[in-house]
Amino acid sequence: MSSSNQPSNPDLDETINVTQAHGRLTSDCAAAAREKLLTDSGRESIPLWVITACGVVLLIAGGVLGNAGTLFSYNNTFRDGYVRGTAPGGVDAGPEPKTAMVAFSAKGSKIYSSKCNGCHGSDGKGDGANYPSLVGSTFVIEENQKLAMVILNGIQGPISNGKTYGAGIMPAQGAGMTAEDLAGVMTYVRNNFGNSTGDVVSVEMAKSALDVSAAREKAGQSVTSEEILARHKVMLSGADIAPEIMVNPATLAPVE
Ligand code: HEC
Repeated sequence: MSSSNQPSNPDLDETINVTQAHGRLTSDCAAAAREKLLTDSGRESIPLWVITACGVVLLIAGGVLGNAGTLFSYNNTFRDGYVRGTAPGGVDAGPEPKTAMVAFSAKGSKIYSSKCNGCHGSDGKGDGANYPSLVGSTFVIEENQKLAMVILNGIQGPISNGKTYGAGIMPAQGAGMTAEDLAGVMTYVRNNFGNSTGDVVSVEMAKSALDVSAAREKAGQSVTSEEILARHKVMLSGADIAPEIMVNPATLAPVE
């Protein structure tokens, strides 16, 4: 078999089929690799199901101990019904109380800016031709039910001074107005621009204004001077609120 062009190699035993021998070796190794490693007794790895079962047991046990038991119960640490007190000047105290006159006027000033300013002007003086002045108007500063009816229903001229402005009608402004909004804007208009009735229109009064307005014979239509003088020349019912009483500026509710 040896030929002249093959170098003589004493290590090569030509009776061994190298491919076959390696093939056996490879398959034996693969089989051995698939075998589980034997570990010392007591040091085998823990099966997954045991770990899972332990987890479930711990969950339940923890729940029972934490809820019913005394081990983790916060009831031992805090008195029954304990509520944390408010830190002096802390954020829990809510907005700083203001006097009713200041708080109602501040709320009213915002409503005025969004609802009335465009026509009656930021000084309340109107323009003398299309929009009347609110300064000194008897419908503003006299019995407060008059002003409430104008705001909630709008007014068809002639107005309190016998004149008619612009197209002769003011559109109703009551849409979306809460009693707080109405109380605020009435207080503001009656005590600004040179008006100074010195009183606050309470939220209770504003609520009764909403009722009176809804119960009008011509509900949904603008009021006229005639109707105001005939039916609304009265103060709104409801407890009044002293201008110097301290209230929460956000809710307008009196504070202790
Ligand atoms: C779209 C413009 C417009 C808006 C907005 C408006 N008004 Fe008027 N207002 C008028 C006009 C115009 C008249 C006069 C109507 C007429 O001559 O018939 C009037 C009349 C009045 C009167 C009657 C004055 C009097 O002496 O009889 C009062 C009070 C009044 N407005 C208050 C308000 C308040 C408060 C607001 C906001 C909540 C407001 N108005 C929003 C246009 C407006």
